[in-house]
Amino acid sequence: MAPIKVTKICCIGAGYVGGPTCAVIALRCPHITVTIVDLNQDRVDAWNSEDFKLPIYEPGLEDVVRQARGRNLFFSTDVDKGIKEADLIFVSVNTPTKKTGVGAGFGADLHYVELATRRIAAVADSSKIVVEKSTVPCRTAESMRTILEANSKNHCRFDILSNPEFLAEGTAISDLFKPDRVLIGSLQTEEGLEACRALADVYANWVPQERILTVGLWSSELSKLAANAMLAQRISSINALSAICEATGANIDEVAHAVGCDSRVGPKFLKASVGFGGSCFQKDILNLVYLSESLHLPEVAAYWRQVVEMNEYQKRRFSKRVVDTLFNTITGKRIAVLGFAFKADTGDTRESASITLIRDFVAERANVHVYDPKVEEEQIWMDLTEAMPQLPAETIKKQVTLCSSALEACKDAEAVVIATEWKEFTLIDWETVYANMKKPAFVFDGRLLVDAKKLKEIGFKVTVIGRGNGL
Ligand SMILES: NC(=O)c1ccc[n+]([C@@H]2O[C@H](COP(=O)([O-])OP(=O)(O)OC[C@H]3O[C@@H](n4cnc5c(N)ncnc54)[C@H](O)[C@@H]3O)[C@@H](O)[C@H]2O)c1
Repeated sequence: MAPIKVTKICCIGAGYVGGPTCAVIALRCPHITVTIVDLNQDRVDAWNSEDFKLPIYEPGLEDVVRQARGRNLFFSTDVDKGIKEADLIFVSVNTPTKKTGVGAGFGADLHYVELATRRIAAVADSSKIVVEKSTVPCRTAESMRTILEANSKNHCRFDILSNPEFLAEGTAISDLFKPDRVLIGSLQTEEGLEACRALADVYANWVPQERILTVGLWSSELSKLAANAMLAQRISSINALSAICEATGANIDEVAHAVGCDSRVGPKFLKASVGFGGSCFQKDILNLVYLSESLHLPEVAAYWRQVVEMNEYQKRRFSKRVVDTLFNTITGKRIAVLGFAFKADTGDTRESASITLIRDFVAERANVHVYDPKVEEEQIWMDLTEAMPQLPAETIKKQVTLCSSALEACKDAEAVVIATEWKEFTLIDWETVYANMKKPAFVFDGRLLVDAKKLKEIGFKVTVIGRGNGL
């Protein structure tokens, strides 16, 4: 068969994955026209904004978009045109955990993937390579193929590839520039392998050949869930040990360092914290749990479920430690929460530990003062009202105040809780914070960020995750 050469790419979904990924493809492949389409007009407008006020914060992203936008990178709400013109289409739509129906709370909601796939079938009038970029359960590509084949016009053929995205928010651009690996899964047929080669050629414009892994479709789909499950499992493992440290007087930083020095283990992802967040870890593990249950593997399901349960426990444990330390009540007390994003260097708040902490503090009737350097106010109110559906928005707004700096949030507070590891929080002038706080002044470090010894010298009572009260 004739070799396929990709010259026009369409990406359906201009979110945290579709936007950065395809912007980098456009930058590195000036000979390919890349159009990113989305149904959300506000999001597309922000991608197209004259002052480059992009809808997501990601270090280095603005620079990439500035270089490629209008040259060979376009953002549009015209999904149909994008589909029609492309020879390769990335499906990069959201796949959240199902909220209702069969598999609710565990399985992935594939509704958006299905709608996007049906749209491709309905409007495509030439053959396409359709690439599953979203994280999906194993064998979703088969469902996509069935939909495409059942609805396509006679002369169109569709080759489905799986090309999961391994970028991490906060480092997306450097991850995309220098990926550990690019994974492409295809059917092992002549056509499947040719489509795989065509996509590999796109990445080969900047990714070394040995980092482009080509595998079977199902291995590719499962590898993404497996990678996230293993990463999250490391965090839950170190967090489980942090609880033991607090009870024994061991220090989790020292334990993690000693363990991580073992070359078989390695040092990464061993930082204890108030718990992992983000749109992927919990969702993807629950997905694996659901898959295991569907395959009648209850022990496997229970094993992975525990990773998520450990994470919930860690968040609960931390907020309880705050209440216990503040003499068993925080009613009417002012608590400063520093950080609302699920981790540093992103404005993403999905599944952020901060949301759970603030919900717990509000339930204890504390006055919570929140500051985050990147998260928009509107987003914080949306997350908090969703997390506390039983409370009217006015009640939440009475108990929660949004602040425009860390110093402002900490003023007159009885306790400061560090929930996100923003670099900015390492530069806080703690002497000033102390002078402006009620006494005794407490700091709860959920991110192993502060110099506890120095803070104690200033006069703070410091509680750090993974360290006993004697520190
Ligand atoms: N966020 C991450 O760090 C990350 C990393 C790797 C993989 N993933 C996976 O990538 C996928 C996308 O994640 P995200 O964080 O970019 O989600 P997102 O919610 O930020 O973006 C998805 C976008 O798709 C759009 N969309 C949905 N249905 C559409 C349709 N039919 N037509 C056009 N646009 C449509 C939505 O409007 C939204 O803007 C998910 O499956 C996720 O699991 C995410």
